[in-house]
Amino acid sequence: MSTQSGLGDHLNPCNAVFGSLRAAGLTLDLAYQGIDQKEWGRLFAKADQIGLQEQIKDLLTGGLVNTSEHRPALHTALRNLDKSPVPHLGQDVMPAIADVWQRIDGLCNKWVGVTDLIHIGIGGSDFGPRLAVRALAHSTNKTNRSMRVHFAANIDSAELSHILERAQANSTKVLIVSKSFSTAETMLNAKTIINWFKAKNLTSSQIQNSLFAITSNTKAAESFGIQKENIFPFWDWVGGRFSVWSAVGLPIALQYGFDTFKQLLSGANAMDQHFASAAIHQNLPCLLALALFYQQHKHHSKAYAVVPYAHALELFPFWLQQLDMESNGKSVDRQGNFVKVSSPTVFGSAGTNAQHSYFQLLHQGPEVIPVDFIAVKAAMSTLPEAQEHHNALLANCLAQAQALAHGKESKDSNLSYAGKRPSNLIMLPKLDAYHLGALLALYEHRTFCLGALWNLNSFDQPGVELGKVLARPIQDALKNDAPFNSDAFDGVTASRIDFLKK
Ligand code: F6P
Repeated sequence: MSTQSGLGDHLNPCNAVFGSLRAAGLTLDLAYQGIDQKEWGRLFAKADQIGLQEQIKDLLTGGLVNTSEHRPALHTALRNLDKSPVPHLGQDVMPAIADVWQRIDGLCNKWVGVTDLIHIGIGGSDFGPRLAVRALAHSTNKTNRSMRVHFAANIDSAELSHILERAQANSTKVLIVSKSFSTAETMLNAKTIINWFKAKNLTSSQIQNSLFAITSNTKAAESFGIQKENIFPFWDWVGGRFSVWSAVGLPIALQYGFDTFKQLLSGANAMDQHFASAAIHQNLPCLLALALFYQQHKHHSKAYAVVPYAHALELFPFWLQQLDMESNGKSVDRQGNFVKVSSPTVFGSAGTNAQHSYFQLLHQGPEVIPVDFIAVKAAMSTLPEAQEHHNALLANCLAQAQALAHGKESKDSNLSYAGKRPSNLIMLPKLDAYHLGALLALYEHRTFCLGALWNLNSFDQPGVELGKVLARPIQDALKNDAPFNSDAFDGVTASRIDFLKK
C-alpha cells in the first residue's frame, strides 16, 4: 500500500530502525505505538485531507493562522539566524529581530557585578526561560557563575518574599516580562520590588537603572517608568507561550552567554527546517501529533503523560501544559462550531520520581494514557558515579516503556498488567542549548499539527479572561474592613468573601 504521502509498505514509522526518524539531532522512536500499516495509511490520508502540509507552509510563511485575532504566529522568525527576509504587513521583520539580538549581546557584555537577577513574569513570560535556565544548569559554560537567577511568577507574595530575603538590593537587576504589560500578577510583583528597593534606600536613579522591561507594549512600559534603553521589545505576532526565543529568553543569555542563547535558537531553527521540508511520514512533529490523535480516538484517552528521564528537564511538563492546553483546550473550532474533542489533559514530571507517584495508574488504571518518554544519552553530572546513575536512569526509562507495551499476565487479576499501552521515546544525544531548542520547537510544531487535526485555532486563549475579570471586584471587596455589596456576587462567593473579611 502507498498513500498520497508516499508511505510504502516497508515504511511503517513504528517499524523504523532506531535513529532513522531523526531531526536536529533528536531521535523519535514510535515502536511501542502499535499502529499498523493500514492505520498509518488512514492517518496520512487524514493529514492529506486537512491539507496539513499547506497549513504548515501557511504557519511558516506568516499566514494569518491566528484566525480570531487576525494575525500570524511568527515565532519561527525569532530563530531565523540567517536573517532571510520574513515579510509581515509588507515589511521584513528580521531587522527588528536582529537589532534585539545585538542589544542582548551588548547587555551580556556589560553585565558585571550583578549578584541577583529577578525575572518577573507569568505563563508564557515565565515557563520557557525558567525551564531553559534550569535545564542548562549543569552546563559548564555559565558566564555569570556567581549570579543567582530567580523567577517570580505567582501573585502570592510567598514566592517573591523568599527571593527578596536572599537578594542583595544594591546589585540586583529586575526583568519585568509581560507581553501585554498589564498582567495583574506581574504588575503587582513589579510594584512590590520597587517598594523593596526603596526600603533598602536605593535612590530613584539606582532603581531606574535596575529595572528592565521585555514587552510588546513598549508604551505601557515607558509610562510605568522604565527607561527607553532598558526596554526590549517583542511583537504582537509572537504568542506568549511561543516567546522564549525573543528577549523573553534574556535570563538564558545573561546566565549562560549570548552564544548559548544563539545555540538554543539554532537548534529550534534546525527543527523548523525539518518541519518545513520533511515529508509527513518522516516529519517528527507531524508523526508525534498523528500518533497522539490516533491513540486519543482509539482509547478515548482524556489525558497523556510526558515523562522526561532527565532531572534537569523537570520543568518541561509545566511548559508543555501551557503550550498544549492553552493552545488546544478549546470547545469551538476555527469556524465557531462546537467540538467534542480537543487537547487531552497533559501531566508529567521527571522520571524516575514519576514512577513512584502516578505510574500505578499508567500501568493498571482502566484508562489508557499515552506516554511520551524523553531521555538523554549523555549523563548530566560530573560526579564520579554519574555514569552508574545514568545507566540506572535509562534502564528505568526503557523498562517502563517495555512494561507498558507488553504487560504481564497473571492468574491473579490484581497482579496482571494489560499491556498494549502506547508510548514514544524521544532521545537527545545530550542536554545542551542546541538540543533543548530542538526539543521545544518539536513540541511547538506538534501542538500546531494537533490543532490542525482538531481544526482549532491554536493561537488564542479567550478562556483565561473570565476569571481575571471576576477577580477584580472580589479584590476590591477584600480590600478593607468596610462592608461590601454582597448583591454584586453570587451567594457562594459572597459568603466566602464574608468569611475572609471577618
Ligand atoms: O494566562 C493567560 C496569558 O495571557 C498567557 O497567554 C500569557 O502567557 C500570560 O497570560 C502572561 O501574559 P503577559 O506576557 O501579557 O503578561
